Amino acid sequence: MSYFRTNIERMSGYTPGEQPKDGIYIKLNTNENPYPPSSKVLNAIKDAANENLRLYPDPVATSARIKIAEILGTKPERIMAGNGSDDLLSIIVRSFAGQGDKVVFPYPSYMLYKTLAELQDGVACAIDFTETYSLPKDFIVQGAKVTFIANPNSPSGTMVSSQEISRIASEMDGVLVVDEAYADFADDNCLSLVEKHDNILILRTLSKSYSLAGIRLGFCIAQESLIQGMMKVKDSYNVDRLSIAAVVAALDDQKSMKANVGRIKDTRHYLTESLRDMGFFVYPSQTNFVLVQCMNGVSAHTLYQTLKSRKVLVRYFNLRRLDDCLRITIGTREEVDILLKNLKEFIETRHSKKRDACCL
Ligand SMILES: Cc1ncc(COP(=O)(O)O)c(C=O)c1O
Repeated sequence: MSYFRTNIERMSGYTPGEQPKDGIYIKLNTNENPYPPSSKVLNAIKDAANENLRLYPDPVATSARIKIAEILGTKPERIMAGNGSDDLLSIIVRSFAGQGDKVVFPYPSYMLYKTLAELQDGVACAIDFTETYSLPKDFIVQGAKVTFIANPNSPSGTMVSSQEISRIASEMDGVLVVDEAYADFADDNCLSLVEKHDNILILRTLSKSYSLAGIRLGFCIAQESLIQGMMKVKDSYNVDRLSIAAVVAALDDQKSMKANVGRIKDTRHYLTESLRDMGFFVYPSQTNFVLVQCMNGVSAHTLYQTLKSRKVLVRYFNLRRLDDCLRITIGTREEVDILLKNLKEFIETRHSKKRDACCL
């Protein structure tokens, strides 16, 4: 006999990327930033690590919301902070979708959307992206309570235009969540749509562009009525004192974030071109990773395992449409050169094995 609700019993749960215990891997599997956070952030966290930790934090993270609003040119009332954007995704699904309600998202995309729908005993509706990762004509599901679009998308790295997102928001029921975890690496974003649409929620995170995945800080931007309602659903103290100090300092140091984003975009270009020269298909990326399709009979899984045995960790998804691909996070230029060296060796060994087989 199980003590769990039937839907929990049935679901498999979300599987995060590997976090190896030892530090000997070149870690290009979970879209972390290869550069350290700003020293101003580290100092702010040290300063906040004082006797006041015995006190609960501000339940609505006021100083963080004021700083976020200032940087984005909006009002603090339109901001909600969360324990990473995953926390906000969970708050959103719990706020708007109940048992039997439809939760829509494109496929392949961030797998957590499906898990969150299943937790609510909702109906997860995965709608396939087209071959080129645009949204299909039938993407809008009437009656859906929540629709997610990761933009730019993970794991493809591709993007849907803000005009299209705006059209979808006007034509659909329910709320539209534009998950902009990678927006700082992209050419466009949907922030301005919050003004126009009362059903849009934009999500951002400090995990990627600000090098703060370990702090767990995300934020949501939406019209006041949505934010007010979601405040009832969040945990009382969902952002701790150290995270509040970190986000204020991080957003104050735009220069450091932008310098790291610039370096990552340069390396993204270098990696993309090098992989294409080696015969891989690389989707055009607006993020800090690339989705690489293996061609000419190269097995993505074998390549993943070979790289892992050489201490280079990339992401392999044993899923439809992705099982011939690897998702590779943009590391430092040095890390990327080690990855490319290993890939070259893999391909050369494969060629020479083929040649030997022909000569037998
Ligand atoms: C599309 C997308 N949304 C949200 C997240 C979660 O971000 P956070 O670290 O803020 O929870 C990720 C993490 O990889 C992501 O890829």
